Amino acid sequence: NKKINIAIDGPAGAGKSTVAKKVADRLSFVYIDTGAMYRALTYLALKTNTDIHNEETLNQLLLNAEISLKNEQGEQTIYLNDEEVSDKIRSSEVTNHVSYVAKHRAVREEMLKRQQQLAQNGYTVMDGRDIGTAVLPDAKVKIFLSASVEERARRRHQENVQKGEDSNLDTLIEEIRKRDQIDSERDVAPLVKADDAIEIDTTDRSIEQVTAEILTIVSAVP
Ligand code: C5P
Repeated sequence: NKKINIAIDGPAGAGKSTVAKKVADRLSFVYIDTGAMYRALTYLALKTNTDIHNEETLNQLLLNAEISLKNEQGEQTIYLNDEEVSDKIRSSEVTNHVSYVAKHRAVREEMLKRQQQLAQNGYTVMDGRDIGTAVLPDAKVKIFLSASVEERARRRHQENVQKGEDSNLDTLIEEIRKRDQIDSERDVAPLVKADDAIEIDTTDRSIEQVTAEILTIVSAVP
């Protein structure tokens, strides 16, 4: 086994978390979902009526919050202080506010510090928006997953339907577009492919195919 970190970035719904989890499983690496950290902070801000556009108060909230990613019985669980929030952070309310929270420099600096700490001993697969560019610029493997916005919305729609939730494809397309736009246009660590990342378009590829491609790339690392 190689003591490396694997960075997987890309826009919403490109399949990052599913693929990252699989790659981590196959390599016995730790999967780190950085989006869940931004989501947990967003959940906390909404719950405590904290203004998400106020960088200073939001950062204070973060500095006092413990966000932990755990692996319990093969399931990824997220804790905010002592509260289990794994499902709560996936609500559409959190989803539609998280990109505003993630814009703030102070918030990103603190998140980056925490994420770098989690990866300091290697053996991680970390997914997010700025892992290859900002959090782990020296990662030995950098992947950028992409897919058309329609395809990404269709996947989310299917997930929602499977969960028995209300879902509207056109609304999802709009929401994903909006989130991509905010993530790509922000000043600090915007969503962009790192120069040395390998891009994989997942539009017409299965999860298994994408996973296999990444494992092949990993096996080529000296
Ligand atoms: O990956 P996920 O969709 O859960 O991420 C939620 C949001 O968190 C993203 O839309 C983005 O605004 C923010 N994020 C980020 N940087 C990361 C991971 C997520 O800005 N590394």
